Amino acid sequence: MARAAKRSSAGRVAASAEVDARHMARCLELAATMRGQTAPNPMVGCVIVDARGRVVVEGVHRGPGQLHAEADAIAKLGKRSVAGGTLYVNLEPCNHTGRTPPCAPAVAALGLARVVIGDMDPIVSHSGGGKRLRRAGLHVDVGVLRAQCQTLNRGFRTWARTGRPHVVLKAGASLDGKIATASGESQWITSAAARHDAMQQRALCDAIVVGIGTVLADDPKLTVRGVRNGRSPIRVVLDSHARTPLTAALLPAQARDGVRVIIATSARATADGAAQRRAARLAAAGAHVLRLPSDQDQRVDLHALLTALTEFGVLTALVEGGGIVHAGFLAADLVDEILLYQAPLIIGGDGAPGWVRGTGAARLAAAPRFEFIAAPSTVGPDLVLRLRRTIDADG
Ligand SMILES: NC(=O)c1ccc[n+]([C@@H]2O[C@H](COP(=O)([O-])OP(=O)(O)OC[C@H]3O[C@@H](n4cnc5c(N)ncnc54)[C@H](OP(=O)(O)O)[C@@H]3O)[C@@H](O)[C@H]2O)c1
Repeated sequence: MARAAKRSSAGRVAASAEVDARHMARCLELAATMRGQTAPNPMVGCVIVDARGRVVVEGVHRGPGQLHAEADAIAKLGKRSVAGGTLYVNLEPCNHTGRTPPCAPAVAALGLARVVIGDMDPIVSHSGGGKRLRRAGLHVDVGVLRAQCQTLNRGFRTWARTGRPHVVLKAGASLDGKIATASGESQWITSAAARHDAMQQRALCDAIVVGIGTVLADDPKLTVRGVRNGRSPIRVVLDSHARTPLTAALLPAQARDGVRVIIATSARATADGAAQRRAARLAAAGAHVLRLPSDQDQRVDLHALLTALTEFGVLTALVEGGGIVHAGFLAADLVDEILLYQAPLIIGGDGAPGWVRGTGAARLAAAPRFEFIAAPSTVGPDLVLRLRRTIDADG
């Protein structure tokens, strides 16, 4: 139940839970305006209210080397006093000197009564800001809208833990898990409502990854359409031999949307002259052709791909199939989340591909386990399943 606004024993005004949540939601809104621009830094927004609870200033972090959100807000404050007020921020103020000075001492110097933090910093060497503020005598509350704060910065959190982007596998399948009929028909298995939901999910990611099988079968655009302020992510094709047709709808020449297109080839598969000429033609057509290390099947090494994507500012990658690519990410244990739309129809047949192909796990103990992030829900007539990889105690 919400705490009522009250004057604490120290004489400070403590806001109600609703007020805290409202200001934290604004921090998240500010932070999200910089989606795709902050990597490898997190998206952070900040709101400072005065002792009477009035918003005085807002701040946002714009990317590496730029002011942190708290410092941005403080810089805009000028000579105005926020003594006795409260600072809201969705990530713990940092306590370390990087490209910019630590935020915690600057926050402590404002004479505030209280700091409200959404989520703690997962990078140990950067954390400690909360403790430092408490030592300076401020009242520090942690965990307001924590789940939303963690979801917004899921890419940053995974990168901080693993050094690679956060990977979400997405598929639209039938009730029996098929993503096409045996004859290759795949449009559309799920409803327009589910596909619109999927468009919104695209807009939350920095890159969309598909396999060459999907490009050859469906010629997808891989853009964000019908989403207000929806920004199209970088498009990535896993294409070991550089077989992407020059007429592909996702290439810059056809799409004309200024979004970067990466064709990820493998070094061993592009060793011959013909493959290199195909790669050169794709580069001339505006694609960014990467020549990455090969896996044992001469395909693109997925660890190398993800490392390379981090260098392009990708913190969250949406892998949209097909089944062979999904199997590759699962076999490499590189899946953090699954987003599965299931339509109430049964395609059946051994020849119809499922949303996970490949050889699969030989033993149950080796099969990757997932847990539901939320209870299964529906969009239009379809089921929506959202799961995350179960992280081992030592992982
Ligand atoms: N309903 C849906 O949500 C949905 C979504 C997408 C696709 N689909 C359907 O799925 C079908 C295509 O799927 P698909 O399974 O045949 O092909 P795919 O998964 O789209 O592409 C597989 C290809 O990607 C390349 N690749 C490169 N590196 C890889 C790696 N490390 N691991 C795995 N693959 C790698 C390989 O070709 P190279 O060796 O030449 O590189 C591989 O054969 C189509 O029918 C399409 O309509 C449905």
